[in-house]
Amino acid sequence: MEEQLLVILRQAEEKIAAAKAFHELNDLKSLFIGKKSELNDFMKKLGTLSPEERPAFGKKINDVKAAIEKVLEEAEARIKEEQYILALKSSQFDFTMPGRQIPIGSLHPLTMIQQQIEDIFISMGFQVAEGYDVEDDFHNFDALNTPKDHPSRNLADTFYIEKDVLLRTHTSTVQIRVMEKYKPPIKIIAPGRCYRNDKFDLTHSPVFHQVEGLVVDEDISFRDLSNTMDVFIKKMFGPDIKSRFRPHFFPFTEPSAEMDITCFSCAGKGCPTCKNSGWIEIAGAGMVDPNVFDIIGIDSERYTGFAFGFGIDRITMLKYRVPDIRMLFENYVNNG
Ligand code: DAH
Repeated sequence: MEEQLLVILRQAEEKIAAAKAFHELNDLKSLFIGKKSELNDFMKKLGTLSPEERPAFGKKINDVKAAIEKVLEEAEARIKEEQYILALKSSQFDFTMPGRQIPIGSLHPLTMIQQQIEDIFISMGFQVAEGYDVEDDFHNFDALNTPKDHPSRNLADTFYIEKDVLLRTHTSTVQIRVMEKYKPPIKIIAPGRCYRNDKFDLTHSPVFHQVEGLVVDEDISFRDLSNTMDVFIKKMFGPDIKSRFRPHFFPFTEPSAEMDITCFSCAGKGCPTCKNSGWIEIAGAGMVDPNVFDIIGIDSERYTGFAFGFGIDRITMLKYRVPDIRMLFENYVNNG
């Protein structure tokens, strides 16, 4: 009888190894270990054996059954794998091909420069403020001490949406927004988009970006302005860069100045970047005009302040040597 069991096992192994489909496995399963299988007949015969022989023989039958189950299981895994490979081969897709490269985006240069600027000022204790792109005459001009007949109010220079409503021409509006809301001490920068009715050319765009700065407290002096700006430009452009102020005029500051830095391309020797002057104009700045404080209701006897504004586009162009401002607004993506 033992011999017969081994024959059954061998037959099962052989047939199962040759099986090519799951339904064949099912048939073989009932053939070899099902209710009507020879193995089951042996089970039934157990009763005819003597009680001493029974346990040993019963164990043998169970061993053979377990062995067949294991072979069936392995065969199932093999067929699964074979069918998967077959499906791959018959498919029109080649799953072994490397995937198509998806171009990974990166930050726009303007965003990178704006973030650098923010980081530098934040490290000096400034907070980042926001205003509105759509503004009114009051915040863009009147509150900034700009006379009614100032040329910048001209329709030709400013995008008016309706009477008294316009697209802000500078981020100086945020100075007013902040002073309306907060009492001194104030120490903010305000980066943002600005709009002017300019035709596109190498250096002009009707949409551009500025960063405004405003510090208001007791005893703020021009020296604070020049020191702050000097720390900023050294962090932004390099430790050897020097700055200078030239007298200028802005309605909202008194005195007003323009700030130049030594050219970081030629270290001040003269080159195309600085038009051979050795200096690059970088910002407008000055002490907040007491008229502005009076308009907004800040005590101009007690408080003084400084303000500055500069173009993010210009700094980006200088740092990355972008020859044409339009390149900053094109959607050209270089995937090469
Ligand atoms: N708003 C000026 C402009 O658009 C820039 C500017 C100059 C801002 C002097 C200031 C400042 O805060 O103090 O040209």
